[in-house]
Amino acid sequence: MDYDVKDLKLADAGLERIDWADRRMPVLRKIRERFTKEKPLKGMRIACCLHVTSETANLMRTLKEGGATVAVCASNPLSTQDDVAAGIVKHVKVQTFSIKGENADQYYTHIQQALALMPHVTMDDGADLVGALHMIAFERYESLHKSVKNWVKTLGQKKRQELIDNVVGTTEETTTGVIRLKSMEAEGVLRFPAIAVNDALTKHMFDNRYGTGQSTIDGIIRATNMLIAGSNFVVSGYGWCGKGVTKRAAGLGAHVIVTEVDPLKALEAHMDGYQVMDMASAAKIGDIFVTVTGDIHVLRKEHFEKMKDGAVVANSGHFNVEIDIDALEAMKTGKKRIRGLIDEYRLPNKNIYLLGEGRLVNLACAEGHPSEVMDMSFANQALCAEYVWKKGKSLENRVYSVPQEIDKQVALLKLQTVGIKVDNLTGEQKKYLASWEMGT
Ligand code: ADE
Repeated sequence: MDYDVKDLKLADAGLERIDWADRRMPVLRKIRERFTKEKPLKGMRIACCLHVTSETANLMRTLKEGGATVAVCASNPLSTQDDVAAGIVKHVKVQTFSIKGENADQYYTHIQQALALMPHVTMDDGADLVGALHMIAFERYESLHKSVKNWVKTLGQKKRQELIDNVVGTTEETTTGVIRLKSMEAEGVLRFPAIAVNDALTKHMFDNRYGTGQSTIDGIIRATNMLIAGSNFVVSGYGWCGKGVTKRAAGLGAHVIVTEVDPLKALEAHMDGYQVMDMASAAKIGDIFVTVTGDIHVLRKEHFEKMKDGAVVANSGHFNVEIDIDALEAMKTGKKRIRGLIDEYRLPNKNIYLLGEGRLVNLACAEGHPSEVMDMSFANQALCAEYVWKKGKSLENRVYSVPQEIDKQVALLKLQTVGIKVDNLTGEQKKYLASWEMGT
């Protein structure tokens, strides 16, 4: 079996973490039990580009139990848990290509190795597999990293064609990936159907809010051991992730400041009780800055110039573009790596501290979202992989929502596993809701 992980000797330690996560993922476990009996993914080859964590390992187990042949590579160079990656190879017996701290060449070589499976289905977190497949399909070789480009050249025309034609569909985990897929759809270039797992209610209302909320704070605390209480904590972006981060920072006693570009979200943050201002104003007073916007250069030179000495900057959005690191590099008089993953940037009149190289702080500096929320996200992923395998050929080349039955099934299963009962409508109530006549 092909793989590239840091050290296979870490596999047994990895298995302990995988099993620990599994105890907290009862919905995914239930789906795995069914998959083990029914083998609904039999014959399917699936290439996954995900954060290689203990939760992902349990998703890999589930896909494998369902009968699929699986390969997984990292969706971020800093998010891999090396012991878990080794555990997936040795104990789950899934091809795994990911090493924490991998450079760009390794990152894209790993994407290429996952694509070498010639997948029928891809599962992305950020749309890098889909992006690579489309650049190959449209022969946009100049946009491909050389690790993928060199491999593609060895394939020959027929195999290259098959690489795209084999794919019946993809599933996408995150907001950024869904945005990329929607722009592909809008440009008319999307070559297969995509299921926006991120947009399932049982995904983003929980994973993006409670998952990002807790794990972002966890990453900042593990990296810095700073006291959050009393700090001026600036959150840029008030989407589901931003809402989660503000709530948890406020819970720890921070003075939370929100910056936004969307007037409605800004108003919502204001009425939720936070201070709202533009970044030019927030930059002067913030102690800790977190970007969760999905956009580029949210923190840039003009803001670094205004920041206080000792300001800590971190990103929890998918790509490492939200903080303009090139600007920091150009402004610096010196730089030092301290405490593991903090870069101290010495500027003429102050130091600014960048966490996790500007990559997702929750995964680079901590362990990502807790298993309890990934349980629902990955239950959606497993069920959507099954859906796309069964239905992909009948779908158009569009971005689809997760079918409501899947979303509802995940919510009901989660409630069951936490022992919560919900009421059922009485016959009288159903009749009342279905009637339009005025009732007295
Ligand atoms: N994204 C955020 N947290 C994650 C986790 N724990 N595992 C996989 N993907 C994640």
